[in-house]
Amino acid sequence: MLSGKNIILGITGGIAAYKAANLTRLLIKAEANVKIIMTPIAKEFITPLTLATLSKNPILVDFYNPENGDWNSHVDLGLWADAFIIAPATANTMGKMANAIADNLLITTYLSARCPVFIAPTMDLDMYKHQANEKNMEALQSFGNMLIEPESGELASGLVGKGRMAEPETIVSFVNDFFANKADFAGKKILITAGPTHEKIDAVRFVGNNSSGKMGFAIAEELASRGALVTLITGPVSLASKHNGITRINVTTAKEMHDECQKYFQEHDVAIMAAAVADYTPKNPLDTKLKKKTDNLVVELEPTKDIAAELGKLKKENQKLIGFALETDNEQVNAKGKLEKKNFDFIVLNSLNDTGAGFQHDTNKITIFTRKGEEIPFELNAKTVVAKKIADQLAKELEQ
Ligand code: CTP
Repeated sequence: MLSGKNIILGITGGIAAYKAANLTRLLIKAEANVKIIMTPIAKEFITPLTLATLSKNPILVDFYNPENGDWNSHVDLGLWADAFIIAPATANTMGKMANAIADNLLITTYLSARCPVFIAPTMDLDMYKHQANEKNMEALQSFGNMLIEPESGELASGLVGKGRMAEPETIVSFVNDFFANKADFAGKKILITAGPTHEKIDAVRFVGNNSSGKMGFAIAEELASRGALVTLITGPVSLASKHNGITRINVTTAKEMHDECQKYFQEHDVAIMAAAVADYTPKNPLDTKLKKKTDNLVVELEPTKDIAAELGKLKKENQKLIGFALETDNEQVNAKGKLEKKNFDFIVLNSLNDTGAGFQHDTNKITIFTRKGEEIPFELNAKTVVAKKIADQLAKELEQ
């Protein structure tokens, strides 16, 4: 998809600039024409010589060459580009982009460019979360720029959190998909469950789990961007659903999630059960606050309904049902058992024994088991990339 495309890679002054070498190499390997603009400070992090060699073009930094007055026209560059990728994008550069502070070649080119712009932020976790930075990122997205979210992990500061630039492979795959402009789910109606459920114990306490909803939301975004009309039934999470193609229904308990799924399943072509539904709920929840006593406390729990298994029974010939299994032991046997028992068309296994997989992480490592007996393992990757793999498998199932 990137073959023959003219791509400007903008590199700013963050430690992740070292990854720009690999990013350039991947773009060249994909047969793109690459021109690189660096901010002056970016040269402190990675040498122009390395990037000029990899991109096969001289590096652009200044408005003009002081030796001979040769003008680096930001207007011409902006018109040349089919895509502008800014990776890494620092808080400083994003702030300037959001406010048209045109004090270097990268910003003037950004303001002149008519092509799609992809921004891969990098910074320390507290900078990333700062309201000023969030406001700038929102502004940039509202101008139509695409944000390639950073990943969580160890940062250059030694702190651990969100702010690590997406891996070069993730960035290339994101841009590639944009140009592929896949609309392979156009017109398909897809129901997705996501997040945890909270089961009330008393007025202030609940039984819950650590699900963040990130995997379900990533699948919803991916499918909506490929043309699907998504109904996202989600338990309590602190995530926003961004795409217009997503209708979001918020629920709290397993019973509420069950009732919404029952209500909507029939009118959908596919249901993807990514929620971590509580298997048990307190039998006699209290409306007041339970008072502390000295003796042991026993809270009687009763089973919830298995939403997926019930949809598995209702499923018609022309519908697909996809499940998840989060396991700690006997992973394959358990996943295959659930595939059969709940009448899934395929099941996505994530094992808590794999580092970076499962609850809360921005990454996941999955294996897909199909009804035909296939076992398809995937590498650890960002949940956004994993969502693409799951969508690709679903597209195959729908073709059959
Ligand atoms: N599921 C569901 N409703 C429930 C429990 C699970 O829809 N009450 C769905 C999950 O969304 C997932 C699949 O069933 O797609 C498997 O969930 P999991 O918790 O791994 O399995 P359980 O059947 O709950 O079995 P166990 O907890 O014993 O592993």
